[in-house]
Amino acid sequence: MKVISSICELKNCLSGERRKSKTIGLVPTMGALHDGHISLVKRCVEENDICVASLFVNPTQFNNKQDLATYPRTPENDYALLEAARCDYVFAPAEKEMYPEPDTRIFNLGPVAEVMEGAHRPGHFNGVAQIVSKLFDIVEPVKAYFGEKDFQQIAVIRVMVKELNLPVEIVPCPILREASGLAMSSRNMRLTPGQHQKAPLIARTLKESTTFVPGKKVQEVIDYVVNTINKEPVLQVEYFDIVDRNTLQSVKNWEETVDPVGCIAAFCGETRLIDNITYRNK
Ligand code: PAF
Repeated sequence: MKVISSICELKNCLSGERRKSKTIGLVPTMGALHDGHISLVKRCVEENDICVASLFVNPTQFNNKQDLATYPRTPENDYALLEAARCDYVFAPAEKEMYPEPDTRIFNLGPVAEVMEGAHRPGHFNGVAQIVSKLFDIVEPVKAYFGEKDFQQIAVIRVMVKELNLPVEIVPCPILREASGLAMSSRNMRLTPGQHQKAPLIARTLKESTTFVPGKKVQEVIDYVVNTINKEPVLQVEYFDIVDRNTLQSVKNWEETVDPVGCIAAFCGETRLIDNITYRNK
């Protein structure tokens, strides 16, 4: 495994691989890797001749300075995990390498980017589009792998890929969960042991709420999820909505769409966690 921090060097290496007719897959990450990330890397290794993983905490997608400053960074551990997963290239650039000049591009990401995360984290998805488009431009992957914990992010990246006519297949990969059900996230590292015990209530409540369909109305399920989680003093729901899995717009009745998705953001102490679940309604 080669660790590279220069765009020019990575492009040279990958041109060499392409000359040998190797297919290249990309796993974009912000580091602080856990088993969820490693499952993406393993899939990328399986489905491509060459696997590139990027490690870059992208400042333009943080709308909160404190969140950026405290985002976990564990590069040595990340390299060891990637090596064990048989990743071929790790791209770990410095901020100046990715943003020699401020990136002023504004993407037209449409309605999928305006709700939920888009509404609560202004500028977040534009920042994601900036960095992912740069990574696609540098690596030119045939396939790129993203975790479904960030369900809305995948929809937004698909819009960006369409807008820019990029020849890359977006591969969504299932959420990995801790034994407690808590969705794996780099942010879980920030939880105190006490918070770590309480946070699984989010996933438990989502799962339980699927058993109410189709008996309860959509709004009743929403109220149940929000009230149950907010009863735990350390947890505070920021939003929970049940949305069409393609448009990400709110669903009012179960019959409106097939397999809608419940998407949640909740604070556990100071740490903001997201998760989602599919409601099978057919
Ligand atoms: O999902 C993430 O970790 C980030 O948003 C991504 C896609 C690596 C872009 O910085």
